Order: sequence, then structure tokens, then C-alpha cells
Amino acid sequence: MKSIGKIGILTSGGDCPGLNAAIRGVAKPLQQEGIELLGIQDGFRGLIRNKVIPLGKKETSGLLTVGGTILGTSRVKPNKYPLNEGGYEDRTELAVENYRELGLDGLICIGGGGTQKNAYHLMTHGIENIITLPKTIDNDVYGTDVTFGYDTGMAIACEAIDRLHTTASSHHRCMLVDVMGHNTGWLALGAGLAGGADVILIPEMPFFEEEIISALQRRESQHKRFSIVVVAEGAMSHEEFLFRQDLSKTDWKKRDLKYGEKVTRNLGKLIEQRVGIETRITTLGHLQRGGIPTPRDRLLASRLGTEAADLVLKGKFGYMMAVQKNGFIPVPLADVVGKKKYVTADCGLIRTAKHLDVSMGIPL
Ligand code: F6P
Repeated sequence: MKSIGKIGILTSGGDCPGLNAAIRGVAKPLQQEGIELLGIQDGFRGLIRNKVIPLGKKETSGLLTVGGTILGTSRVKPNKYPLNEGGYEDRTELAVENYRELGLDGLICIGGGGTQKNAYHLMTHGIENIITLPKTIDNDVYGTDVTFGYDTGMAIACEAIDRLHTTASSHHRCMLVDVMGHNTGWLALGAGLAGGADVILIPEMPFFEEEIISALQRRESQHKRFSIVVVAEGAMSHEEFLFRQDLSKTDWKKRDLKYGEKVTRNLGKLIEQRVGIETRITTLGHLQRGGIPTPRDRLLASRLGTEAADLVLKGKFGYMMAVQKNGFIPVPLADVVGKKKYVTADCGLIRTAKHLDVSMGIPL
């Protein structure tokens, strides 16, 4: 086996708190072993454009609590590089060529589902020595029980719900809160349950309007004069779900964020008409991805980072370092790509929602 002298690292996809802690976690053990670390800027775009920075001890200290990513990020895919004049081009070969010219012996890619896919693509097209780490506030990466960023995103959304509670109660209103999460409901479900929401709507459980209305009417009849409805950005009605299934059997889960906002607006109007309570909408948006990571995310990112460095030192590549049953295990990247971790009807959080009489917009 060729000895490892130089490793590249990049962050890709939407940013999240904990990225810098993970970079630091990778860097320190490698630096101790005399391995050079090169930071690739703005995700895979930096590999294609050859934009790199040295990551020495100076650059990687003081990072633990810093939000965002010192490397920058983008959603650029090596095989679908956006051109200035419009359209896309496959730049995989250039990315592999640059990797070789930089003298890299391995590449660590930190990102969500898309990043796992892009990393695997490079792995099967010439950059064999790849290790990935799962990050995203959405918590939807397949093969890991949890991603870093999720805990912070949930804490931010939960704090917002706590604050909305008091103003909802003062004004006797129904507050609808739009939460991120892409096409999964982990963030809305976690923050909604922790924040004591009355209704939580997630993409995996297309809702029935009548279920929502009767849950809110029930509260009114119990003289509870305010309500909190958490809506995941990918949530949709059962009718919409059926319509989309008809449109295309494979594409219905494709991202359409504007649609999420429309869902919340329409629901707000419907609740006013049918329940007779004033409604207000709050969209949390990118606030959920900003700022310092929670202690839990700092620890998770640090542990994932150091475990990834350990893999490098052992010369084990082709894995995503994952959390399973409270332990850290390398999962073959091939087993992760093209899959998503969805909320299922039998998962613990849904059982809790049922026991707490939180409406999911469907009969549970
Ligand atoms: O994946 C993280 C995430 O914040 C999703 O929750 C959301 O759907 C998406 O990114 C937003 O993307 P952008 O940063 O491109 O607006």
C-alpha cells in the first residue's frame, strides 16, 4: 500500500453548523501524523477549478464553535457542471486530473445525500481513496442514525416554536411554522414534538385537511384558544400526493420548495374559514442552518471527523463514517448512494406523536 502523505478535504451541499468542527476533527489527528491537509474550496467546484488552500495547524485552530464552513460550499456536481452560457458539462475527468496533479492520496467529502452521490461518482471514475461524512440539518442521509447539523437545526426551530407559543397564546391565534427538511420530515417532527406543536405535517405522511381541521376544532372545544401547526417544507395533501403519483411514478418526491410555501398559505386560509381562528405564518428558512453548533453537534462532528481521520491512517477508503446504535461505523459508500432515510410510520417519534395526541394530519 502506498503511504498517505497528502489528503484533500471539501464541504459540499447546503451548509450546516458543525462543518468546521468536523474539519478540525479530521485535521488534528492527521497533522499529528505528519499528513498534509489541503482544503478544497466551494465543494466539487473547487476541485474542478483547482481552488485550494493549505490547512495547517494555524488554519484549523479555533474552529470548533464557528458556524458555516471555512472552505465554502456549493451544490456543483462534477458530472453536471453549470456553464456560464447556460446548460451543463461533465467535468469529471478534469476533477480527477486536478486531484492527481495536486498529489492527493485521498479525499474527504463532507455533505448530505447529494455529496455522497458525487463522492461515489468520483470514486468509480478514478479517485478511489474517498471517505465521506454525513452532515445536514435534514437528517435524511441513508446509513446513519443521525447527521451533524440536525441537532442545531432542531434547536433553532424549537426555540422559534417556543417563542411563537407565547404570542399565539396572547392573541388567541393559530401559528403555522414552515420548517426546512427537504423531502423528509425529521426536522419538523423533532422540533415540533420538542416544541409541543399541536399538528405536525411531514412529506412522508400526506395529510388530510379534515384531520387537521378536526384536531384544531377539538382544541377549540377544550377552550384551548391557540394552536401551533408545524409544516415541513415538503409536506403535501393526500390529493396532491395522488396527483403527483399520477404525473410521474418516479419524480413525485422531487424538490419543489415554492410548493411548500403555497401549502402553508392555503392551510392558513382554510383554518381561518373552518376553525374560525386567526392565523399567522412564520417561515424559518435559512436561519435553521446558521450560527454556532449545539454542544451535541460539536461532539458528533468532532467524533465523525476524528473517526474519518482514523480510517485514513488505516488506509481504509470507500466508506461513509456513520452513527449506528450509538457507535461509529464505516458504511460502504456504495450502500449509501441513491437512498434517503425517511420517517416511517413505525418509528419512535411517530409513536410518541400518537401517544401525545399530536395530529400528523392522518389517522394514526
Ligand atoms: O439540505 C439542507 C437544506 O437546508 C434543506 O432543508 C432545504 O430544502 C435546502 O437545503 C435549501 O437549499 P438552498 O440553500 O439552496 O436554499
